[in-house]
Amino acid sequence: MEVIEILREASKRIYENVKDLAGTEHAAGDFGIGAGGDISRNIDIVAEKTVLDYLKEINFECIVLGEECGRVELSNNSKGYIIMDAIDGSANAVRGVPFFCSSLAFATENKLSSITDGVITNLSNGEMYWASKNKGSFFNDKQIKVHNKEPIYKIVGINISGASADLMKRLHPIFENNNHTRHFGANALEMALFARGLMDIFIDLRDKIRIQDIAAGYLIVKEAGGLLLDANLNLLDADLSYETRVSFIAAANQKILDEIMSQINE
Ligand code: IPD
Ligand code: CA
Repeated sequence: MEVIEILREASKRIYENVKDLAGTEHAAGDFGIGAGGDISRNIDIVAEKTVLDYLKEINFECIVLGEECGRVELSNNSKGYIIMDAIDGSANAVRGVPFFCSSLAFATENKLSSITDGVITNLSNGEMYWASKNKGSFFNDKQIKVHNKEPIYKIVGINISGASADLMKRLHPIFENNNHTRHFGANALEMALFARGLMDIFIDLRDKIRIQDIAAGYLIVKEAGGLLLDANLNLLDADLSYETRVSFIAAANQKILDEIMSQINE
């Protein structure tokens, strides 16, 4: 079975197991602080267990790097890493805001740039975004590309959750400059919408986002033809460690990147 099929099946199983849980009191059950540093909620635990059980069921020899469960070695003859954020947008999922997803990626080495496969599933409706290296990005069965025409409405995604006052000051011109700014609360799904051409640029400059949140989006954005850069406008890469936090910009093309960057205060 190809790795992408394994990730797709694991995500489908997450969707089946959590679709009736979002927004319920049961979803919120507190399991203490997870490996990623946030409180693990029952819905996170149910979703992670679904993936771990499935990988064990098919004897997939890998090391899992999960946001809640941490590093789990399922074999000592591992083929690579499964980078798992079983629920991205946990706050939305717990409150029942219909914008949360699962993010599963496979990497051969300890680097974002070695990701070969990624799947993001919108857990409020089961829609799936997926990519394999050099094979393009897909939304369900349709190939997707970033938006590359002059937009009718310029949609600028910006993650400002918990942003510092200094960062808000730097970003302020973007809000003033006739852009349609959006922030939905699940980075992986926002990267997927960007890859599908529904946003022109997506920015997260908070230095807070974990590798688990962006691993699948990393490949889906690149395979859809997006530019994916770090805060210094170099190609985004990072190791897969739990301490790593990144900032990034996903832009549909150089023109929109230059335009928005010129609006950010130094
Ligand atoms: C969160 C989401 C959110 C971002 C937070 C992340 P989680 O992931 O991606 O958009 O603002 O920084 O922690 O915790 O729901 O997996
Ligand atoms: Ca999560």
